[in-house]
Amino acid sequence: MLNLNNVSYHVEDQRILNQINLNVKQGEAIAVVGASGSGKSTLLRIIADLISPTEGNILFKGHAYKDYTPESLRQRVSYLPQRLELFGDTIQDNLAFPALARQESFDKKRAKMLLEAVGLKKYKLSASVQRMSGGEQQRVTIARQLMYQPELLLLDEATSALDDKNSRLIEQLIFNMVKEGTSVLWITHNTAQSKRQFHRIVTLHNGEIEQEA
Ligand SMILES: Nc1ncnc2c1ncn2[C@@H]1O[C@H](COP(=O)(O)OP(=O)(O)OP(=O)(O)O)[C@@H](O)[C@H]1O
Ligand SMILES: [Mg+2]
Repeated sequence: MLNLNNVSYHVEDQRILNQINLNVKQGEAIAVVGASGSGKSTLLRIIADLISPTEGNILFKGHAYKDYTPESLRQRVSYLPQRLELFGDTIQDNLAFPALARQESFDKKRAKMLLEAVGLKKYKLSASVQRMSGGEQQRVTIARQLMYQPELLLLDEATSALDDKNSRLIEQLIFNMVKEGTSVLWITHNTAQSKRQFHRIVTLHNGEIEQEA
């Protein structure tokens, strides 16, 4: 469903990504690993269409990215960035945001289901996000990202602030979506996590794919 063909990202004379070839199937879960600075976030930002490759091309379901409107791509390809981004004051402000962007009504039932699935059942939708802990805030952003089930989900260290119990809870939620056909690229430093359930592990080294296991 996703094909990267000789994708490079160069800034001035710096090669941040070099000749990346990667094919992702529907319902495939791939762990993206590699040292800090190896280009993992840049790769996901390119696939999320936030930045454009300086060389190469990307196909989504057989069509070039430029054949999609930015809105339709954003609805199909969902990217959770490395840095926490919260909106407004309450949990509801955050979980209702994707519906607002699509000019659709807020699915309160799904919001409550997701809140429970990320282990935040004790909170009401009206609770203030500012008073929550870092790990709780991270789980609000994950729930927000899943208000609509994407075709391709890009996670940049989504569970970095979470303890083992909550990490497993999030993994379960994500891998249930994989079973339903969502493809996932998940940057993780947790090798135990990357070995547990992923179909493949892609390792980046100095902007190149080093090995596939
Ligand atoms: N627009 C840019 N201009 C210059 N350098 C950039 C730009 N974007 C990324 N880089 C550099 O590219 C390298 C890869 O960055 P990237 O954020 O992709 O790494 P990463 O693998 O996600 O690292 P981490 O594990 O620390 O998050 C870094 O050295 C970064 O400074
Ligand atoms: Mg990164």
